[in-house]
Amino acid sequence: MDDLKAELLAAVAAATDLAALDEARIAALGKKGRLTDAMKALGALSPDERRARGQALNEVKDAVTTAVEARRATLARAALAARLEAERVDVTLPTRAERAGHLHPISQTVDEIVAIFADMGFALAEGPDVEDDFHNFTALNFPPGHPARDMHDTFYLPDRADGSRMLLRTHTSPVQVRSMLSLKPPIRVICPGRTFRSDYDMTHTPMFHQVEGLVIDETTTMAHLKGCLVEFCRTFFDVDDLPLRFRPSFFPFTEPSAEVDIGCSRKGGELKLGNHGDWLEILGCGMVHPNVLSACGIDPQKYQGFAFGMGIERIAMLKYGIPDLRTFFEADLRWLRHYGFLPLDMPSLARGLVG
Ligand code: PHE
Repeated sequence: MDDLKAELLAAVAAATDLAALDEARIAALGKKGRLTDAMKALGALSPDERRARGQALNEVKDAVTTAVEARRATLARAALAARLEAERVDVTLPTRAERAGHLHPISQTVDEIVAIFADMGFALAEGPDVEDDFHNFTALNFPPGHPARDMHDTFYLPDRADGSRMLLRTHTSPVQVRSMLSLKPPIRVICPGRTFRSDYDMTHTPMFHQVEGLVIDETTTMAHLKGCLVEFCRTFFDVDDLPLRFRPSFFPFTEPSAEVDIGCSRKGGELKLGNHGDWLEILGCGMVHPNVLSACGIDPQKYQGFAFGMGIERIAMLKYGIPDLRTFFEADLRWLRHYGFLPLDMPSLARGLVG
């Protein structure tokens, strides 16, 4: 009996994989296994012999069963460890350059603009692309029938049951209105976003981007507006002595209003920014009209402030030398690889805007 036990346990211990272990188990405990045969032979013995030998056989059976389970656990652990080693993936490998995605120049430019204004204490504000007449026009001092409405080439949605109709916002100025209605002065917000006008040629696309700025408190003046925009333009274009020119202009929602030009040169058909005597228009601005403050629930006797708005594609084209507006929206991967930015190079003033 001891020999049988030693032999069976040795066979279990010698199994080097799960298949061999199964063979050893069947040879001992299977239908035609050694222990099963020995059990069958008990019937031919006398009752006393049968009891003694049966008990001894059961002990061997328990020992073999325990040994098989222990060996199975050991082999399974070893098999898992071997598989993990064989299928190992090094997740620290860098992405292959040709597979890296790029940020669209619009995303990059928005990040840069927000970084500059965040540094001056502005908060980010956003509004919906689909607006109503009140936020896009009426509250901004465009009364119904005002001729300036026609200049916006507005996309309208189908009439609603009450006869009114929603529209795609034609500028980011409705976010000024939403900010004044939802925040208490002092207000300092920067609002980038999509805008829509029914226009398509070399310099216009039906969808484009603007960024709006708004400051409201008790003492803000046109001098603050100038200082803020000079600081922004010099930082954004990275030209320390970039001159700015404020030209009188008209917007229904600002009074006085101005358009801002930055210095440039067009010598030899090439555009260069800086103090070179020529001028290029880049944005609209002014002091928020008292009618707009009133429409937005702010007392114009107590509060005042400034607003500005500019086209993001336009300043991105100037900064990054992108010649054609329409290419921004063609989703051409070659263009994106050429003009795009690495996603982890987040612009920040501390580190420089572009890595
Ligand atoms: N909303 C104006 C436009 O789309 C720009 C602007 C914004 C002008 C704020 C003045 C103040 O042309």
